[in-house]
Amino acid sequence: MRLLRTMMLHKVQLLAVLAFGLAVLFIENQIQKIDESREILEQTIARHEVAEVEQRHAEAGGQVTSSLSEADNVVVIYNRVPKTGSTSFTNLAYDLCGKNGFHVLHINTSKNNPVLSLQDQVRFVHNVTSWREMKPAFYHGHVVYLDFSKYGVKGKPTYINVVRDPVERLVSYYYFLRFGDDYRPGLRRRKQGDKKTFDECVATGGPDCAPEKLWLQIPFFCGHHSECWNVGSRWALEKAKANLLSEYLLVGLTEELEDFVMILEAVLPRFFKGATQLYRTGKKSHLRKTTEKKPPAQDTISKLQQSDVWKMENEFYLFAQDQFQFVRAHAVREKDGKLSVLPQSFFYEKIYPKVS
Ligand SMILES: *[C@@H]1O[C@H](CO)[C@@H](O)[C@H](O)[C@H]1NC(C)=O
Ligand SMILES: *[C@@H]1O[C@H](CO)[C@@H](O)[C@H](O)[C@H]1NC(C)=O
Repeated sequence: MRLLRTMMLHKVQLLAVLAFGLAVLFIENQIQKIDESREILEQTIARHEVAEVEQRHAEAGGQVTSSLSEADNVVVIYNRVPKTGSTSFTNLAYDLCGKNGFHVLHINTSKNNPVLSLQDQVRFVHNVTSWREMKPAFYHGHVVYLDFSKYGVKGKPTYINVVRDPVERLVSYYYFLRFGDDYRPGLRRRKQGDKKTFDECVATGGPDCAPEKLWLQIPFFCGHHSECWNVGSRWALEKAKANLLSEYLLVGLTEELEDFVMILEAVLPRFFKGATQLYRTGKKSHLRKTTEKKPPAQDTISKLQQSDVWKMENEFYLFAQDQFQFVRAHAVREKDGKLSVLPQSFFYEKIYPKVS
């Protein structure tokens, strides 16, 4: 009996040990499972974090590519004055835009009015500034200077222009209205059929050759202020000079267009790479000549030169000439009768703190 009880007890103990062992095994198994899940969870979290970092990088990178680089964001505005030989220069831009990868846009204003209404000024400034698909862009047209900084946009365009001797410009315009040019020979001109020469016009005091008609390059550089159009205004002359210096990257002369092109190529290669070569080889095709132009007689010129308007327009022209020749003297060198632009002649040194 006793033996039997002991055997039973042994059995119970054995069972208990067995159960305990099983329980331990089960718990270990569960712990391992938890460990595995934790590992999976950690891996998932890590993967998620990596993805997040990568996404942030991609976003930052995307921002760099979607916001245009400095050179590709440039807008050049050439607010050309009529009859300054500007078509020759504009055609260069059309010939280069495909190869150099920029857009050229003509600003066509109704009735060729060079002054924009206030609402058009706002439209134009906002459109030019935000129109990414067109950048880099070269805009040209007979529009007077417009100061972008007062319309609440970031950044300013790069203005360039060309000026011409005021009497020659007026003579050219006079004949252009009567005979057109070899550029669009079929087009009917406003004063077509009028055979009167410029000399005859000045002698008889006609309106198309009146000294007031000289007042054009000053208002083009002066801009959208009432006083700019006040013929003979000293304030307008000073404003035009100040704008020429501070708001224009470069103002060339009709009489020295090749040098203008050469310096522009050095200053704005993103647009004008290859322009000098093209201008030299294709000189004829880029020239636009007013047909039937008779040079004015000396006393015609003298008569115009007596007017205050001529004196001021001429002062502005000489001012532009001085400035252009100053720029050229510092930008170009002559060697064996050939002009070339100077290479970079500054460098940095003594850069601190040293990078190790
Ligand atoms: C400007 O647009 C008008 C109307 O479409 C057109 O007749 C004129 O020829 C354009 N001007 C120039 C210079 O192309
Ligand atoms: C700018 O104006 C043109 C012509 O009106 C238009 O097609 C273009 O969508 C405008 N761009 C912007 C960014 O407003």
